[in-house]
Amino acid sequence: MSLIEDLHRARTEEDVKDAYIKALGLKAVFKGLVDIQTPEIWFEAKETPTPPLLMFAQLLTYVRAARKRGEPIPGFLCVIDREKAALMPTEHALPLLNDPTIVWPKSGSAADKALAAQIAPIIETHFIHYQIDGYEAEFIKAVKDAVREGRIIRTPITPDNLRQVFDKWVAMVGVELGVKREADYAVLFFADIMHDGHTATMANLPARLLFNGNDPVFIMGADQYDLASARGYRNFWNIYHRPPEQKHRHYLLERRDSLLPMDDQKFKGAFYTPLHIVDKAYDQLAATLGADWQQRYIVWDMCAGVGNLEAKHSNLRNVFMSTLDREDVTIMRSNPAFAGAEIFQYDYLNDDVDDFGQIDYALSGKVPQSLRQAIADAKEGKKGAKPILVLINPPYAESGSGIGKGDENKIGVEKTRINGWMREMNLGYASKELFTQFLVRIRHELPTSTLAMFSTLKYINAPNFEAFRSLWRAKYLDGFVVENKAFDSLKGSFPIGFLIWDQRFQLSITEIQTTVLDRKGSLVGEKSYVVRPNSKLLNVWMAKTSAKGGPALPLSNALTVASNPRPKRQYAGAVGYLYASNNDMQHAGQETLISSSIFTGGNGGGIWLTDANLWQAAIVFAVRMLTVHTWVNHNDQFLQPSQPLSEEFKSDCLVWMLFSGKNLTAGADGLRWNDRDWSLTNHFIPFAEAEVGAKARFESDFMVRYMAGMAFSPEARAVLDQGRKLFQRFHATSFPNKIRQDYKLNRADAGWYQVRKALEAHSDIVTDFAPFREAYANLGQKLRPMVFELGFLPE
Ligand SMILES: C[S@@+](CC[C@H](N)C(=O)[O-])C[C@H]1O[C@@H](n2cnc3c(N)ncnc32)[C@H](O)[C@@H]1O
Repeated sequence: MSLIEDLHRARTEEDVKDAYIKALGLKAVFKGLVDIQTPEIWFEAKETPTPPLLMFAQLLTYVRAARKRGEPIPGFLCVIDREKAALMPTEHALPLLNDPTIVWPKSGSAADKALAAQIAPIIETHFIHYQIDGYEAEFIKAVKDAVREGRIIRTPITPDNLRQVFDKWVAMVGVELGVKREADYAVLFFADIMHDGHTATMANLPARLLFNGNDPVFIMGADQYDLASARGYRNFWNIYHRPPEQKHRHYLLERRDSLLPMDDQKFKGAFYTPLHIVDKAYDQLAATLGADWQQRYIVWDMCAGVGNLEAKHSNLRNVFMSTLDREDVTIMRSNPAFAGAEIFQYDYLNDDVDDFGQIDYALSGKVPQSLRQAIADAKEGKKGAKPILVLINPPYAESGSGIGKGDENKIGVEKTRINGWMREMNLGYASKELFTQFLVRIRHELPTSTLAMFSTLKYINAPNFEAFRSLWRAKYLDGFVVENKAFDSLKGSFPIGFLIWDQRFQLSITEIQTTVLDRKGSLVGEKSYVVRPNSKLLNVWMAKTSAKGGPALPLSNALTVASNPRPKRQYAGAVGYLYASNNDMQHAGQETLISSSIFTGGNGGGIWLTDANLWQAAIVFAVRMLTVHTWVNHNDQFLQPSQPLSEEFKSDCLVWMLFSGKNLTAGADGLRWNDRDWSLTNHFIPFAEAEVGAKARFESDFMVRYMAGMAFSPEARAVLDQGRKLFQRFHATSFPNKIRQDYKLNRADAGWYQVRKALEAHSDIVTDFAPFREAYANLGQKLRPMVFELGFLPE
């Protein structure tokens, strides 16, 4: 099938991409933030016809970010949609990337017409436009020729990326050489990089690179080293440019003795940062602070462990590394990779912290004089003083928490001297968290420093860190989030941020943009984290119902009495109960339901429902349940709507709630609690008795009256129709005793939970749920994008 035919059939952007990949025969394809990425050519794809300049604006935003991170960029750029494509050699756009007059957005998806207009004069005449209908063959040939040329704009080797480049060389080239002594890697590495592919560019090196045809051969003394496989060698030299610039060559050579290969095992402490993610952090630092940041900043890592975060540093003379455990200090000191760095034992949350909220270095005498001087100079803003960069992955542990399980997770772990300060400052929950304790001391001690920190994101947007955020303010510069599974010791599914802050500016955090890396460190998307005051969150949108009646029957499921109830009172006139606990995506899936009496499982938190607040409850319920939890959206807080809500949206949400698996409302007698029998009355049946063939009267017709006169969308009506059939089937069925007991089918007003579960359990009759599920899925599909459009969740 031709490309034009495939494009004709394409329904989604994914289909459009796949059509082009197939037609162009693209190999080694990666689909991530850049829609289609191959070493030689990058594509931006759109499902609908889009102006090429707009697509190039977006693609160039990614190219610029990659270039800043020191990643190789391809020789060609291509933009595609279902009608047309445009191709351009990247070199024509290079002047744009350094042009200070252009305001580049933080995220590619924010590239707009204004940016397109700015880049137009430079690139307009350089890209070739192909209407696929009519020019398919020409386009395919042009791309295939471009790929065959194999042009890539390679990354230079400099003093700042030397360590990263060396580590990659060992992994891709060195391991293929059968080297006998670890120290020989550096010797061979220099022979390789100080060569332009034809001749050596430096004389008198202890090893030499020769070529046997196309195959490299290394000569060192009497030994000859051949590559077992040349694949890594080719890939490596597709990424990097050789030789390094003349001005760097001697400096690079002087660093040779510190270049021993990293043994990953040496860096596996209990809560270590994996080295492939440290590598990404160094790319991010270069992109954010400038390629020469290692020369310009003094770095202090005050929770260095065995030094993972410094393992990629190429200029250790500017580095201070301190940590709690003496054994870790010994390990760091014996590691030649850290030769030149100042390494010392120091308890950052206790040492030198006096009772008056001050730091007094005389108390422990542990902080080196040179660091004290650097801190004083930076604080004073002394002319010529190097700024300080705090580069850390602090411990994440709060008293009794599940995060960072292990030795650090002990009751009382938070009781440090800084914790004492924070309690005095009334910083609430954040005082318990070790990493926010680090931030509080850093803010006090190093107020002008730049901070680059790995941590969970709760300091950014968790409601119980609001007091902390009012004290700890800084200007966000840039960063990434990475899946926690990249870190061996962290269970669960959530993002770990590596965020860079300029603390000289005390700005409130309202929104931060990050790139998204998967556990391997590949760039897979972008994400913004939105921060709103607690008063704007969805969990305070509904007015509280203050219950004054007698004790309420506590439930832990639709029909199960809670064994360890938190006592609550009844609310006169209530028709049900909405359990909606913590206000974030992490908890929403597990902690949202409606029931016919109070629900006391989970973390508590719920509200009695009445005819006045039911419309809001349906929306809160639907909004919390519609979006699937992922590690990326884990920390997203639900927000109050930012757009007007239509009647259709309201009635759609109501129907979606009534037929959700988390609608646990029920009608049942004989629930035993507090030495007496209790009944549940079901107010949530959307049908009258006659409609569903019930054999007895429903105690409440609340929902039928509530819905009378409401207009329902075709999608909601389809759910009601299919749901009605299941209710009818339920009432027409004689259930065996076990099912009647299990689901307490002892009165007519059985709820959706009982209807569904009883029909599923009755194996003698097979109930076809498929038509219902399809209708329900359609309604969900309609509502899902509206959660974002109406402002309940950030995009
Ligand atoms: C999450 S680990 C990170 C280790 C290393 N920087 C890395 O990235 O792999 C946190 C480190 O902080 C150390 N630490 C814990 N409490 C500390 C304190 N009060 N002062 C200094 N270091 C501390 C721990 O021993 C641990 O090595």
